[in-house]
Amino acid sequence: MFDSSTRTLVVVGAQWGDEGKGKLVDVLAERADWVVRYQGGANAGHTVHIGDRQTVLHQVPSGILHPGVRCAIGNGVVLDPETLFDEVDELVKDGVDVNGRLYVSDRAHLVMPYHKRVDKQSAASKAIGTTGRGIGPCYEDKVARRGIRVLDLRHPERLQTLVERGVAHANQALASFGSAKRADAEYTLAVLNRLAPRLLSIADDVGLAIHRAVKGGATILLEGAQGSLLDIDHGTYPYVTSSSTTAGGAAIGTGIGPRSIDAALGVVKAYTTRVGSGPLPTEYDEAMGERVRKLGNEFGATTGRPRRCGWFDAVVVRYAVRVNGLSALAVTKLDVLDTLDRIALCTGYEFGGEVMEEFPGDIAALDGIAPRYEWFDGWQTSTAGARKLSDLPAAARAYLDRIEALVECPIRYVSVGTRRDQILEVEQRG
Ligand code: IMP
Repeated sequence: MFDSSTRTLVVVGAQWGDEGKGKLVDVLAERADWVVRYQGGANAGHTVHIGDRQTVLHQVPSGILHPGVRCAIGNGVVLDPETLFDEVDELVKDGVDVNGRLYVSDRAHLVMPYHKRVDKQSAASKAIGTTGRGIGPCYEDKVARRGIRVLDLRHPERLQTLVERGVAHANQALASFGSAKRADAEYTLAVLNRLAPRLLSIADDVGLAIHRAVKGGATILLEGAQGSLLDIDHGTYPYVTSSSTTAGGAAIGTGIGPRSIDAALGVVKAYTTRVGSGPLPTEYDEAMGERVRKLGNEFGATTGRPRRCGWFDAVVVRYAVRVNGLSALAVTKLDVLDTLDRIALCTGYEFGGEVMEEFPGDIAALDGIAPRYEWFDGWQTSTAGARKLSDLPAAARAYLDRIEALVECPIRYVSVGTRRDQILEVEQRG
C-alpha cells in the first residue's frame, strides 16, 4: 500500500475486531519506518506468526518484530505499564532488540491495577463482556479528568495526590457494586514507582516525533485495535469498547492532523466473528458456529473466549467503508471457508416486508430482523498455497468480486493462512 502518494497509512478492523490486523500490520511493516498504536490498550491481542513461532502482542505495536522499525504508543492508548514491560521482557528473551525503537507518548493515560479490578467486578462490564483489562474504567477517568498520564510520573507529589484520588473513586465504585475488594493507594504507588524509571526512559512527545517523521518523508503505519463496530461512536453501542477505533481516531490518538493520513486500509475476515455480547446479525446456528470456530481457531487472543461466528455481512462492512473512508480492503482467513459446500453473504436485513440496507444507529432496530442472503458454491479446494489472484478457484474469486461490489471498496489483499507469506496482493486496476 505504501507508494509515492501513500506515506501515512491507517489500518483498521472493519468488523468486530480480530480481523487479522496483526498479520497485515506485520506484512506492511516491512516497508514502514514507524508503527504507531493510537487507541485501546491491552484489550487488543495481535497474533503474529513468524515461521512456526506464534506471538501475541497486547500492548507493544506489532511492528516491533521488524528490526529497524520504530514503534510508538500514542496518546490515545490507555497504557498498562505492567503488561507493556512483561511483553518487552518476553520479546528481549526471544532475541528482539527493542532498544531505542520503542516510545510511549507522555500524554497516554495509565491503566492502574484498580481499573482492572473495577472492570472485573462491575456488572455493567460483565453484561457487555469486556476483556477485564481495565479499559473502560481508565477511559472513564480520562474523560472525567481524573486520569493519570505517563508524564505525571515525573512529579512524585502530584502522582501521590492523583493516585489517592483515583483509588478513592475506584473504592466508591467497588463498594457500589457490593464487592468486598478494595484498591490500595500504597500498593498502586509501589507498582508505579517500580516501573516509572523504565517508562520515563521511553516517554516522548510522540505527536511531535510523528509530525517530524511525516515531514521528513518517512512511511508511517497507524495500527488500529478492535474493530469499527466496537467504536464508541460508530459501533453497536453500548456493546462497544471505550475508544475511537475508526480511522478518525488515528489523528486524535497520535497527535497528527487528519490531512497527514493518506489512506485507510480496512481488514475484514471472509466471514464474521465477535467476542462478548451484542448484536451479530449473521450469527450461525450452534452446529455451524462450532464448525467454523474450529476451522478458524476462533478463540480470543486476549481472553481465550470462544468467538461467536457468522456469515460475511456486507451491510456491516459497507458501513465500515463509509465511517472510515476506506481506500482498500484486506480479506483474511479465506482459507477457513475452503471446505464448505455453500457460502452466504448478507446483503440486507429484512423486517416486516422491508429491507434495511444501512446499518442502524439503534441496535434495537436489529431485533427480529432476518438477514437476506446471497448463496455461493463453495470451492472445496485448498487456497492456502495461492499467491496471486489467478491462483484462487473461480468460485472464490466470484465470492470476493461480490464482496467488493456490495461494500463498494476494492480488495487489495487476500490472506490464505496464518504464515507471513500466505497472502496475495491484488494488482490495482485502472
Ligand atoms: P473492553 O474493550 O475490554 O472494554 O471490552 C468491550 C467490548 O469490546 C467487549 O465486547 C470485548 O469483547 C470487545 N473487545 C475488546 N477488545 C477486543 C479485541 O481486541 N478483539 C475483539 N473484541 C474486543
